[in-house]
Amino acid sequence: MGKAIFILSGAGLSAESGLKTFRAEDGLWEEHRVEDVATPEAFARDPALVQRFYNERRAGVAAAQPNAAHEALARLQRDHGAPVHLVTQNIDDLLERGGARDVIHMHGEVNSALCARCGHRWEAPAVMVVGEVCVACGAPTARPDIVWFGEIPYHMEAIGAALEESDLFVAIGTSGLVYPAAGFRQMAQQHGIATLEINLAASGARFDDVREGAASRLVPDWVEEIIGG
Ligand code: APR
Repeated sequence: MGKAIFILSGAGLSAESGLKTFRAEDGLWEEHRVEDVATPEAFARDPALVQRFYNERRAGVAAAQPNAAHEALARLQRDHGAPVHLVTQNIDDLLERGGARDVIHMHGEVNSALCARCGHRWEAPAVMVVGEVCVACGAPTARPDIVWFGEIPYHMEAIGAALEESDLFVAIGTSGLVYPAAGFRQMAQQHGIATLEINLAASGARFDDVREGAASRLVPDWVEEIIGG
């Protein structure tokens, strides 16, 4: 029996599908300061801007295609013979469209809508408007189902359980700057779990093993080693 693997992915996994990472050199995310579009305060202050921003992200995701790294992770999950937990900070659905199952989206999903009043979730329309109505309770309180800065990530209990039962922790394409995800490597090491980073440019955090390069090349190579070997 193979060993259970926990994979934490970030924006770098989808970068080669054409989706921008967050911490580009200009410090902006698609021309916006993060605090202007990705906080509850921003949504309260300017819901039109925030809805428009996520409408654009949703359209971008719909136009993007999974890359070789997404597909390789789906293959690993299918063929490994032991659990492969896919935890992502990404709000896109490229892992799923690459064939992966049970992806844990700790920062929410751009294709999901959430009612701020009753908590109901449903598939987001392509374009959400200011005062978008909840399909369950009818209140004009629908928002993108995204975990904004200052909000608590989803599925933390399931993530903790998955990490504890794993034998290998792999961080792919994440800068490791945003908590609580940034603390997973340390948690893994406290449990005696081996750690590997795959990143275009090493984050500098102390992983047992670091592979530097593009995810679309390194992830399929690594999956081949695990499955082939
Ligand atoms: N292959 C591998 N890694 C890559 C590639 C690539 N082609 N391109 C970029 N990277 C790496 C970068 O070197 C960087 O370490 O991906 C990482 C992207 O880092 P961030 O932009 O900080 O993205 P992420 O770590 O996912 O951000 C975490 O921050 O803004 C919030 O909620 C948002 O989920 C996001 C969280």
